[in-house]
Amino acid sequence: MALFRQPLPRKLLARALSGLLILSIAISGVVVRAQEIEHPGYEVAPERRTTGIGKFYMGREISFVMGHQAAEWLNRPGRIQEEMPDEVVANMGLDPDHVVADIGAGSGYFSFRIARLVPEGKVLAVDIQPEMLQLIKAQMAEDGVSNIEGVLGQVDDPNLPPGSIDAAIMVDAYHEFSHPFEMINGIFQALRPGGRIFLLEYRGEDASVPIRPLHKMTEEQVVREMSVFGLEWTDTLNFLPWQHMMIFTKT
Ligand SMILES: C[S@@+](CC[C@H](N)C(=O)[O-])C[C@H]1O[C@@H](n2cnc3c(N)ncnc32)[C@H](O)[C@@H]1O
Repeated sequence: MALFRQPLPRKLLARALSGLLILSIAISGVVVRAQEIEHPGYEVAPERRTTGIGKFYMGREISFVMGHQAAEWLNRPGRIQEEMPDEVVANMGLDPDHVVADIGAGSGYFSFRIARLVPEGKVLAVDIQPEMLQLIKAQMAEDGVSNIEGVLGQVDDPNLPPGSIDAAIMVDAYHEFSHPFEMINGIFQALRPGGRIFLLEYRGEDASVPIRPLHKMTEEQVVREMSVFGLEWTDTLNFLPWQHMMIFTKT
């Protein structure tokens, strides 16, 4: 007991402090390492399937990107029955002030519907094709919509600031991201804690869905790819004729 009451000799004090410093560096080192996410890697195959780019991620061949020349196809009337976009956005559980990123927004088919649900918030419409963002801008002017912001992304970066969004949605887009790991990493960093990812893809396990194989994904494959980031698989909504609406949460 007497030892604690006496002032510590300087040398001993210095040694104790440096020990503490080393310990805290070691501990923070462990924390930093634990937060680092290991890249599963990409594989390149000499031969590719018809609509693939010959690059594989976790066993899945990535599809080519749909060019802006086909943007009109995204607005086809039949899509209302096929993809029920209003029901999709109604099922996102958004608050009026939420900030939502629509990644691979295309012509904004979902961005405009989401914008109506977040009048005090906004939609960040991210796409790598400037022509798509131009289409969205023109439609905003025509409809008098002001709470959508176009964001020009890169193939490996959604260009969203960290901790800036409450939700991200990807509709018929993720399967064509040439750098899915980097994209989800960027989205993961941009999500606030508790933020959600809505991932909609045509059901790969259902042969009756009339879409080419590389433009579909199985639920199992999506879960495998999202698990890399420790995202919690919260739910899969199965009310859509052809797609899964999968929900993941950043815990
Ligand atoms: C098939 S369209 C779907 C558009 C929209 N989500 C819809 O449902 O109408 C896919 C879009 O994803 C975009 N895209 C592809 N790779 C991307 C990436 N890495 N980052 C952002 N957008 C990307 C394409 O440019 C294209 O506009």
